[in-house]
Amino acid sequence: MTATLIDGKASAATLRARVAAHVTRLREENGLTPGLAVVLVGEDPASQVYVGAKGRQTVEVGMASFEHRLPADTAEADLLATIRALNADPKIHGILVQLPLPSHLDSDLVINAIDPAKDVDGFHISNVGLLGTGQKAMVPCTPLGCLMLLRDLHGTLAGMEAVVIGRSNIVGKPMASLLLGESCTVTIAHSRTRDLPAVVRRADIVIAAVGRPEMVPASWIKPGATVIDVGINRIPAADGKTRLVGDVDFAAVSAIAGAITPVPGGVGPMTIACLLANTLTACCRAHGLAEPEGLTA
Ligand code: GUN
Repeated sequence: MTATLIDGKASAATLRARVAAHVTRLREENGLTPGLAVVLVGEDPASQVYVGAKGRQTVEVGMASFEHRLPADTAEADLLATIRALNADPKIHGILVQLPLPSHLDSDLVINAIDPAKDVDGFHISNVGLLGTGQKAMVPCTPLGCLMLLRDLHGTLAGMEAVVIGRSNIVGKPMASLLLGESCTVTIAHSRTRDLPAVVRRADIVIAAVGRPEMVPASWIKPGATVIDVGINRIPAADGKTRLVGDVDFAAVSAIAGAITPVPGGVGPMTIACLLANTLTACCRAHGLAEPEGLTA
């Protein structure tokens, strides 16, 4: 292995400590406690794990956590009523509706019912538009976490060639907007891209966000490039159990790349830390208070 290992776990711990310190100050100086509401509809096992981790970490940084676990057959009108109540509740500064929602619910309708100022996922159409036009927005947590790791590593990213593999609304598109905001030359590649290996080989920065286990081989990577692996894929392991791998062939790519995030322990821990940072940012904005430096894009 020649690549520098980008330690997302350590960066996330540092970010959480900064958030916690500011939460203490808000309580002592302003009598405020940031509050995050997480809404989970149904019993998807992976979603339950994520929601549990979000609640635990919210409390650990001194914020208030509110969980709303609703049955899988919840009517859309009832979910919308829950969101309206959270929008109106001054104790709540951030609202997150865990995705995916059961198929009878319209995700776009539900997300766009959230007050954009409380949309700590950055998925509301207003925040998407603000980010896309380079204005102050709530920024989606996973791309924000990737950006923080890149800034820590490189300082300025201006002029770098960045290739984002994957065009999802949750990662690929907002990631491209953020990199453009950093003055990178940005390409979004996807399943229909012609000669994907040649496109990725141009990149100084590769963001892999496809959800296909180990699909990026070493032969696609320019020597010395920085590789950010957003994938979290569970695959069968030799011992009959399962193991987590990213979208990148870590063992091979780490011999070529200049720096690389591992899976687990890379981007994953940054996502929840950025959710906490966004909740703090939303609380400061709601009360007209100065935002801590460096917590958003
Ligand atoms: N499901 C998978 N990733 C996410 C995320 O970032 N936010 C929400 N709300 N649901 C998700």
